[in-house]
Amino acid sequence: MLRFDIDREEFIAKYFEKQPFLQRKALSKEFSWATIDDVINRGDGATNFIKLVSPGRNEEFDFFEDYFDGVLKRRRLIKEKVYDYMSRGATLIIGRLDVVSTPVADLARVISQYLCARTTVNGYASFGGSAATKVHCDPHDVFAVQLLGKKRWEVFHPASPLPVKRARGGGAEEPGPLAMSVLLEAGDVLYIPRGWYHNVTPVEGCETIHAAVGLNVPTFLDYIDWLSRGFMAQHACMRQGLVPGAWSPQALNAAAEAVAAMIKDEGLLRRFIVDETRLPPAPSSVNLAAGVSKLPPPISDLALIYLNPPERALREGSNLSVEMLEVLGVLRDQALGWCAFLDIHSRLSERSRESLTASIWQLAHLDVITLRDASVT
Ligand SMILES: [Fe+2]
Repeated sequence: MLRFDIDREEFIAKYFEKQPFLQRKALSKEFSWATIDDVINRGDGATNFIKLVSPGRNEEFDFFEDYFDGVLKRRRLIKEKVYDYMSRGATLIIGRLDVVSTPVADLARVISQYLCARTTVNGYASFGGSAATKVHCDPHDVFAVQLLGKKRWEVFHPASPLPVKRARGGGAEEPGPLAMSVLLEAGDVLYIPRGWYHNVTPVEGCETIHAAVGLNVPTFLDYIDWLSRGFMAQHACMRQGLVPGAWSPQALNAAAEAVAAMIKDEGLLRRFIVDETRLPPAPSSVNLAAGVSKLPPPISDLALIYLNPPERALREGSNLSVEMLEVLGVLRDQALGWCAFLDIHSRLSERSRESLTASIWQLAHLDVITLRDASVT
C-alpha cells in the first residue's frame, strides 16, 4: 500500500537526518472521510485523542456532552458543533490514529519496517481554513502521508541540528532558510528530518487529511542511558562511591576506560537496537476462534511475528514448550526481532506446520509475541 522508489540504504545515505525527501504517489490505497468517520464513531466519547484546533483564533472548542443511556452516564460528540467548527476552518486532530485505524496502522508499519524504527501517528483533517500548527520543528523525524486532498508544506533548514526531546519550537530559535515548498497531494509522502522547521497550511477551500508518522529513533544518548541502566553496573569501578576525597585519577581513568569499552562494543550496540525497535508490550488482539477452539486458525506464510520485550518471555518462561522456545530462538536471531511465518517454518522444518501454528498462537495469547496479518494470503 505504501512504496518508496529508493531502497533503505540509499535513503539513509542521502536523506535520513540530512534533508527532506519527497515521494510522489507512494500510496496505492485510496483513503476517504470514512476513515476519520469510523474512528470518531468507534471512539464512544473518548475525548483524549480527538481535538479541534484553530491557531490564531482563541476559541474554546466544546463539542462533547454527557448523557445517560438508561444504565450508564456516558459522553458523546456533538456532531453539529464539529460540523460548524470545521466549516469555519478548524482542524480535527486525532492523536495516535494508528491505534484506532487499521489502514493507518498498516501504512505506519511499512515506514516502521523501512527504517527499522517504532512509529506513532497523529491525523490532521480539515476542509481548508487555517493552519493547525504554527511554524515549528519536532524532536523526531516525520513522514507526512497525504491521505486525501491537498496541503502546502514549507520546510526550513534547522536552527541547530538533531534536537532531542524538548518543548516544541523551543526557545528563541528561528528557522533557517527555506529548503522546500511543496503541495502534497493524495498519495504523496514527505520526509521531514528531525529539527527541520515546517509550516503546514491547508489550501483555501480544499479538503485535506494527512497522517503525520513520527519515528521513535534511539540515539547514542539513549544507548549510553541503556548501558548505564544495565551493563555499567557490572563493573566494580563504576559502583565506587564518590564522596570528596574518595576517588583518585586512577579510579577516574578506570571508569572512563570501562565506559569507552562498553560504548565501542558493537555487539552491545546491536542488542540495544533490537531492544529499542521491538514493539512495546501490548495485549495481543482478541481472536475468539483461535482462543476457544482446539484447532487454531491457519497462519499465512506472510504473517509477521514480532518478539515482544524480553520480560514477557521471562515471565512465561517455565510455561513454554520446547517448540515455543525454538520459535523464540529463531526470533532472537533476527536482527530486528521479527520475521515472517515462512522464515520460522523454514528454520524449524522438522516441525509440522500444524504444530508450529498452534505454538505461535499460544505465544501470542501469552503476549510473548505479537502476530500480525495472520490470515493474509
Ligand atoms: Fe510537526
